[in-house]
Amino acid sequence: MSTPSSILFTLTILILLCSLHSCVCDNRLIQETCKNCSKSDPNIRYKFCITSFLSDRRSHCAKNLHELGLISIKLTRRNVTDTSAHINELLKKKKSLDPFVKACLNDCLEVYSDAISTLREAIRDYKAKRYADSNVKLSSIVDASTTCEDGFKQKNYVISPLTKRNNDTFQLSAIALSIINMLIHMDKLKGTF
Ligand SMILES: *[C@@H]1O[C@H](CO)[C@@H](O)[C@H](O)[C@H]1NC(C)=O
Ligand SMILES: *[C@@H]1O[C@H](CO)[C@@H](O)[C@H](O)[C@H]1NC(C)=O
Ligand SMILES: *[C@@H]1O[C@H](CO)[C@@H](O)[C@H](O)[C@H]1NC(C)=O
Repeated sequence: MSTPSSILFTLTILILLCSLHSCVCDNRLIQETCKNCSKSDPNIRYKFCITSFLSDRRSHCAKNLHELGLISIKLTRRNVTDTSAHINELLKKKKSLDPFVKACLNDCLEVYSDAISTLREAIRDYKAKRYADSNVKLSSIVDASTTCEDGFKQKNYVISPLTKRNNDTFQLSAIALSIINMLIHMDKLKGTF
């Protein structure tokens, strides 16, 4: 069945699928932004930044830095929400938790639960372009991840079960913060002309 019309049909379908999967959009904005983020903050690893954005289909076609910034905050929120649920599971499952570890996990749970509502406000501020307010809230998310991780370090026989998650949240919120600071900088430049 390889009549010209069926070939044309197949081609049309392919092009349609391709545009649906946004393979027609390029990732230059992501690359450039991640380069700038990792340059401005040595805690942000370029590869982590790229992988995080590419994991979210919406970012492939992000038209500008503002859109990409919102995606980075939403990625942070997804991470924080998942970690909060994970801590709940850890506390439920292990009845025989070391009392110190249990206390640390409870502290982390409190910090991460607060972070979820803080992120909701950060998104509202961000959408209204109140970047300075959003900056303050994102900074507290960076702090939340280090507060949680540092809790476990108070006793050297304990290994934090949340190191990777804290590190992920740390880097994601640092990326969002870095983008917000670029936007603040761009607003300032606009104001001087
Ligand atoms: C990245 O930084 C360069 C040099 O400071 C700047 O020209 C460019 O606009 C920035 N790109 C983004 C996406 O912020
Ligand atoms: C958190 O974000 C990182 C980076 O995007 C990702 O690799 C990881 O799977 C996420 N973790 C959760 C629990 O969502
Ligand atoms: C996060 O993990 C990366 C790679 O595993 C490491 O290079 C980096 O130092 C860690 N960052 C923090 C704040 O622990």
